[in-house]
Amino acid sequence: MIAFASRTGNVRYIVSRLRLPAIEIEEDLMLAESFLLFTYTDGLGEIPAKVKLFLERNGKLCRGVIVSGNSNFGHNVFGGAGDAIARQLKVPLVRKIDLRGFPEDYEVIHDYYEQCFRKEHIG
Ligand SMILES: Cc1cc2nc3c(=O)[nH]c(=O)nc-3n(C[C@H](O)[C@H](O)[C@H](O)COP(=O)(O)O)c2cc1C
Repeated sequence: MIAFASRTGNVRYIVSRLRLPAIEIEEDLMLAESFLLFTYTDGLGEIPAKVKLFLERNGKLCRGVIVSGNSNFGHNVFGGAGDAIARQLKVPLVRKIDLRGFPEDYEVIHDYYEQCFRKEHIG
């Protein structure tokens, strides 16, 4: 499943287009199954506070991170939340998306989702 955080609707929009099982991150959410994280970027390349708290409780079940950012913020901080999470949790950065992205971004996410969760079911 995909666990996502969206403040202004871009991530929510993409998730709705993906048609994959998804749950929005809310305070105190605890997951019992592994997930892909999909977050936006805050501050200057920062992980949103609610996502940080969520990962303190559920980070061990995270199998990869997808991030939306705005490339106008500049290369150094574009999608920085995804880089930070991938580094901290040692999980793949599946895709860095500019705002709502493009169909090819959605395809990459789909492919990774399939690969990730099919593998997990098998072994
Ligand atoms: C206060 C604020 C700070 C932001 N900082 C960054 C940033 O450092 N890097 C980046 O790539 N995007 C940054 N963004 C852009 C958002 O991450 C981007 O618009 C994203 O698509 C928002 O997703 P959402 O609509 O699902 O909330 C920032 C946006 C806001 C409002």
